[in-house]
Amino acid sequence: MRPAIASRETTAITDADFIKFRDFFYRKTGIHFDEGKRYFVDKRLVERIEATGAADFRGYFIALRFEARGEELQNLVNAMTVNETYFFREAYQFDCMVGEMLAEVTKRKRPGDRIRIWSVPSSTGEEPYSIAIYLLERWPLINQYDVEIMSSDIDTRVLEAARNGVYSPRSVAQLPKAYLDKYFKAQPGGDWKISRDLVAAVEFSRLNLCEAADTRRLRNIDIIFCRNLLIYFDDLSRRVAVEAMFDALNPGGFLCLGHSESMSRISSLFTVRRFRDALVYQKPLGYTP
Ligand SMILES: C[S@@+](CC[C@H](N)C(=O)[O-])C[C@H]1O[C@@H](n2cnc3c(N)ncnc32)[C@H](O)[C@@H]1O
Repeated sequence: MRPAIASRETTAITDADFIKFRDFFYRKTGIHFDEGKRYFVDKRLVERIEATGAADFRGYFIALRFEARGEELQNLVNAMTVNETYFFREAYQFDCMVGEMLAEVTKRKRPGDRIRIWSVPSSTGEEPYSIAIYLLERWPLINQYDVEIMSSDIDTRVLEAARNGVYSPRSVAQLPKAYLDKYFKAQPGGDWKISRDLVAAVEFSRLNLCEAADTRRLRNIDIIFCRNLLIYFDDLSRRVAVEAMFDALNPGGFLCLGHSESMSRISSLFTVRRFRDALVYQKPLGYTP
């Protein structure tokens, strides 16, 4: 048994508390914490208990489960998520989008038609903005279609940062210099602010990918990027998330996962497509529900 974390005399998370909290958080978010994450979870829980002024874990947990507006649950989600991301991360999939996937998508459309691309989870926005830059710079047909880029995350703090669009030098390190100069403005202190046009090009919204009430509203999507999220889920929530994305896609639409994530063991709904630049998953063209 590990020593319980306590930063003031009354705040300690016991093994039984951890299990109660872990199961509750899993039901709410699909995120699964194993014993290896104990230190991370306990530390943030203690911070939230103290921030709310609750006397101890028990008092905090009761208030959390019975609060009507879900405000503290959102604070907790914001504290517990891992938001690591950067511009042009796993860019081979963006090459595949402009070089191969879009050629197939446009075969089934006419000029002027809408193409919908969804980046989930967005974290602080680097991924959807990278998609927008790729389309503008490397897809010659961009002006012939009505492209809509949507992006979502369960964490409201990262969505606010995404809409604000200010990035650290580390976050933009993989961006070609020409794009940095073209789409960003240097800020005092070394950060970079993204152009207003790019901010306007992406529609951000809060969404829990494991919650049917949230995902139901997303339909007729042509390409989904869902990268570096399923690693935080167990097989059951992975299946829920993948099936929600399957329903959201148009027949023939594509799903890109992160390089360490795969569909094996989760679902056999998708067809595997091995393009030159990347392996992606496709909703069968002739699919009818
Ligand atoms: C590591 S970031 C990945 C960001 C980006 N897709 C990338 O690959 O760089 C993981 C994000 O998943 C979000 N997340 C966790 N659970 C979620 C859920 N159930 N629904 C939507 N987003 C979730 C977290 O808030 C976090 O911002």
